[in-house]
Amino acid sequence: MTQIDDVKSRLDIVELIGGYVNLQRSGSSLKANCPFHQERTPSFYVFPDRQSWRCFGACAEGGDAFSFVMKADRVDFRDALHQLAARVGITIVSQGDSGDRSRQLFEINDAARRFFQDMLATPEAEFVRDYLRDRGINERSLQTFEFGYSPASGNRLLAHLTGAGYTPEQIAEAELARATDDGRHYDFFRGRLMIPIRDWQARVAGFGSRALDDNATPKYLNTPRTPVFDKSRILFAMHIAKEPVRQQGAVIVEGYMDAIMAHQHGYDNVVASMGTALTEQQVDLVRRLTRQVTMALDGDPAGRNATLRSLESSWGVFQRRNVRQTGASVLQPPEAMELRVAELPAGQDPDDFIRQSPEAWPTFVEQAQELFDYLMVSLSVRADMESADGRAWVAQTMLRFVAQIPDRIRMDLYLDRLAARLSINGDTLRAAMPSIMRQSGSARAGQPPPATADEAVPAPSPEHDAIEESLLAVLLQHGSELTTDAVADISPEWFTRSENRAIYASVFASESTADLEMPPELEPHLSRLRSLELRLSNEKKLERAWQQIRLTIEKEYLNNEVKQLSSIEEEILEDSESPLALRLRDSTYRIGEIDRLLKPAGPTHL
Ligand code: UTP
Ligand code: MN
Repeated sequence: MTQIDDVKSRLDIVELIGGYVNLQRSGSSLKANCPFHQERTPSFYVFPDRQSWRCFGACAEGGDAFSFVMKADRVDFRDALHQLAARVGITIVSQGDSGDRSRQLFEINDAARRFFQDMLATPEAEFVRDYLRDRGINERSLQTFEFGYSPASGNRLLAHLTGAGYTPEQIAEAELARATDDGRHYDFFRGRLMIPIRDWQARVAGFGSRALDDNATPKYLNTPRTPVFDKSRILFAMHIAKEPVRQQGAVIVEGYMDAIMAHQHGYDNVVASMGTALTEQQVDLVRRLTRQVTMALDGDPAGRNATLRSLESSWGVFQRRNVRQTGASVLQPPEAMELRVAELPAGQDPDDFIRQSPEAWPTFVEQAQELFDYLMVSLSVRADMESADGRAWVAQTMLRFVAQIPDRIRMDLYLDRLAARLSINGDTLRAAMPSIMRQSGSARAGQPPPATADEAVPAPSPEHDAIEESLLAVLLQHGSELTTDAVADISPEWFTRSENRAIYASVFASESTADLEMPPELEPHLSRLRSLELRLSNEKKLERAWQQIRLTIEKEYLNNEVKQLSSIEEEILEDSESPLALRLRDSTYRIGEIDRLLKPAGPTHL
């Protein structure tokens, strides 16, 4: 934490953002046309006293210096941290600087890859070769994907690599070994089927490994993040799929085995996302090659909520990428990326499907629907479309997707489409947008806006960080006991600190809180949150605590927004129909609502 705080404390957000946009004084704050969407009148504000920024217009986003750089430069938290650290002259120690170091890690990985492959040929790995044969993996795939075996005994790889001249520390840095408390080392992968993961440039960046016993957990154990391995920046099999993807478009499957089986049958344009929602970096990889992307989803009814979350996130990534593309060229009409989705029959994944009927795969891929249509259909099947509640639920869920479109015109087009499909008046849907954009989930469309606020605005609580941390602690420690909807019912915007926001985003995007993709710089903060003591004796208490914290955070966020709005130009607010005035009313109304919800018990501080 200290490093992050240190960087923040040396930054001046006005100077930083002033380098991107032309800021004009406006009372105690500064304003500009929002750099993130097209507008004529400024709704983008910078608040020096709180070192924060916010757009009150179409984006309805805000945050600190980190989140600004993340958004403006389209980088992740880690890159933003390093960029800003460099700006204030701090060197972040947890990451090495030299290309030499990376080269060495790739080298160690490649040596390990050869070792694992050699091991697979030995008599002790006969059962592994049997396993592969039973799964239908042929000799050619065995070679192409460089399958290997990590011996179960504990330090054979270590012995092999130290024999080749590497130190245990270097091997541990590649995450091929771990150190015990007394400083000894042992192999990280033991008794597993090894699958090397090569990056875009075909360098061995890390490994996926599968348990060979179906009861062993985790089923897949992957290389944790290292200076050269970041699962979110790699698509498995891309190093051999580039040319086919360029020619035929990309098909993205979820699992290693899915991609491998596809390639075995000549479907060479298939890559794997390795089980998580698509990231911006992965989409960028694909975008260099093609505009046509099809996601082939496992037909797994139990996973639907997780899938929806993951699709929501992938959709958001695509929308943001498309806007950036629009801005790139004025003279040519932009060719938007097209994200289509095909879902396998229940209980099947691409691996099963292709093994059973390889010739049916192209047809399956071709009948993929545009994500928006796919969602409409799959949500409509789940809801009772005859009932008002059912249609409202579909509308709400779809609006959450629409709300992620950063471009007003496109958003409008989708709203029309949605209105037509649901036979709901377009204006009604539009009226619901502001609240959807602020809080996903709860239905408030159609309720009259309240009168203007007349209460004094409470100062932002110094405890805000504590509340943010409580929420994350509950999420990290009890996330699996919460419903998916409860977890999704949080807006990342509510976190004032980018590091907390990044942790929330990572939890939201992953299937399990045990295996988070997290920059190493956040590890100390993360482990503190994991060990924060929570007194939650039973399920009821957990649910209630979650509700209370969630409401408290949202309220804090809105209070802050109201305060900021009140501090900016009053004449804008006097025009009662201006977007800012509407937002002010909306927020004030929601604060009242939250107060009523919180009243019986009062806020919980864990
Ligand atoms: P699946 O559970 O669908 O695995 O996870 P699969 O590919 O069908 O595996 P098999 O057929 O049982 O061998 C899809 C992907 O999610 C990641 C892996 O990349 C996996 O291929 N995953 C899954 C993990 O990283 N860890 C896990 O514990 C499970
Ligand atoms: Mn499978």
